[in-house]
Amino acid sequence: MDILLDFLANVPWWAWILIFLLFVAIRDIFFQKAHTISHNFPIVGHLRYWLESIGPEMRQYFVANNREELPFNRIERGWIYASAKKENNYEGFGTDRDIYSHQHIFIKNAMIGYQMRSNHPNIENPYFLPCAKVIGAHNKRKKPYRPASVINISAMSFGSLSAAAVDAMNHGVKKCHAYHNTGEGGLSPYHKQGGDVIFHFGTGYFGVRSREGNFSIEKMKILVDENPCIKAIEIKLSQGAKPGKGGVLPGAKITPEIANIRGVEVGKDVLSPATHKAFSSIPELLELIEAIAQETGLPVGIKAAIGKMEQWNELADLMKKTGKGPDFITVDGGEGGTGAAPPSFADHVSLPWVYGFASVYKTFKDRNLTDRIVFIGSGKLGFPAKAAMAFAMGVDCINVAREAMMSIGCIQAQVCHTNRCPTGVATQSKWLQNGINVPLKSDRLAQYFKTFRKEFIEITHAAGYEHPSQFTMNDIQVNVDDDYLSSDLETVYRYKKTAVPFSSMQELYDCEYLGGKTALEKTS
Ligand SMILES: Cc1cc2nc3c(=O)[nH]c(=O)nc-3n(C[C@H](O)[C@H](O)[C@H](O)COP(=O)(O)O)c2cc1C
Repeated sequence: MDILLDFLANVPWWAWILIFLLFVAIRDIFFQKAHTISHNFPIVGHLRYWLESIGPEMRQYFVANNREELPFNRIERGWIYASAKKENNYEGFGTDRDIYSHQHIFIKNAMIGYQMRSNHPNIENPYFLPCAKVIGAHNKRKKPYRPASVINISAMSFGSLSAAAVDAMNHGVKKCHAYHNTGEGGLSPYHKQGGDVIFHFGTGYFGVRSREGNFSIEKMKILVDENPCIKAIEIKLSQGAKPGKGGVLPGAKITPEIANIRGVEVGKDVLSPATHKAFSSIPELLELIEAIAQETGLPVGIKAAIGKMEQWNELADLMKKTGKGPDFITVDGGEGGTGAAPPSFADHVSLPWVYGFASVYKTFKDRNLTDRIVFIGSGKLGFPAKAAMAFAMGVDCINVAREAMMSIGCIQAQVCHTNRCPTGVATQSKWLQNGINVPLKSDRLAQYFKTFRKEFIEITHAAGYEHPSQFTMNDIQVNVDDDYLSSDLETVYRYKKTAVPFSSMQELYDCEYLGGKTALEKTS
């Protein structure tokens, strides 16, 4: 025994490495059958897999130029990070964008911009930018709601996001008087930290589901009665990243906490069908909207990604005929994000935001219905210039999902679907989410929203307006192509936006339906 130990102790370190590599080579050639490259090129074949796995990070940090990456390039991410940290978010020396490129946005500035009087609400509070319309006012819902912020958190469920991320986001919206959309996963305790909430449900009816998996209006009523933080309800028809795609939540992922929030059984697979069971036609959808609004007193809206227009035309005709309809419509762009989707869906199904929104708005505009509806847009709109274009096209608010994630630390690792999100934002791993400092990250989300609103107000003033709802289609141009270089939105998308009945910021400030108002501090 001593002789063997002596012998092993005298083997030099480099010989141990050679022995280890020999074992790897034997395994690669004779035992593993899954990887041809490792079999044909033992040992060195592993380098290929390792380099492939770190490729995205290498490209992101060293190779890609500032404007190259998708979905969000380095300049866009940098602007969100700096805004969220209240750091210098300016750039020096002038733009590095090719401003003659296709789809580039130009906002037409006024010769003399909007001048605020000395007692204007934005002098005291440069971040005050509420929605110019009241959701549910036209349909005379019992509890109408005016969002106190034009930028809000888009649907993302607890389950796709971590508890810590949802917690930070809800504390964040409370601090900046925005609203927080629950996403499909039901209303979790983390959504109840004091911020306004939009309750969102899809085909799984999580949180408002009967034992058989159908929609339960009784559960909806109880949920709303018990949770005054819920200000409106959104029925999801589809989302840009995967319209018409159902899904299965595997039983293994259903912890007692998730089961309780979603109203499902622990450990059992749960199906989210591709379509709703609660309605199968436009008249039935309209009936459901009215039933929910009647029972809860809340405004009710729909969210959809846009493709074919026939059923939208049918909805608009029916609204015209019956005088009823959704209080708000959220239009999601095909460029929208998701926790997980097949690339064939994410890349190809549904129209990009500008095309989809233009078609939907035109449909309602043609029937004089636009002033009955609050239009919400989502799809990479969380940047003031993009938002200005969206407002000029007719939106009243924007929702942001991935931009909100980035403000609390997401680095666009694009691994939400693996449960291995390195920043703890989109994972259920306790270890990874422990890295999220909730008070700090909630400050960051609030600061991003506030910086966004301040910059958006400044752009609005530069264009000669008091509120972005006053932007018209002629105030903004987009480059369409080389021989027809730039055209205003009205010419490109061929409709005129309905003027929003905005009178003054003061009136919005004094509105009795203003969300987050109890907590509204004049200077925050
Ligand atoms: C992690 C994650 C989860 C999402 N979950 C939902 C959801 O439950 N329901 C839904 O309608 N959209 C969902 N979305 C889509 C977003 O609400 C939003 O419509 C889309 O990402 C576009 O906004 P963005 O470009 O600001 O990210 C999710 C997006 C992300 C990134």
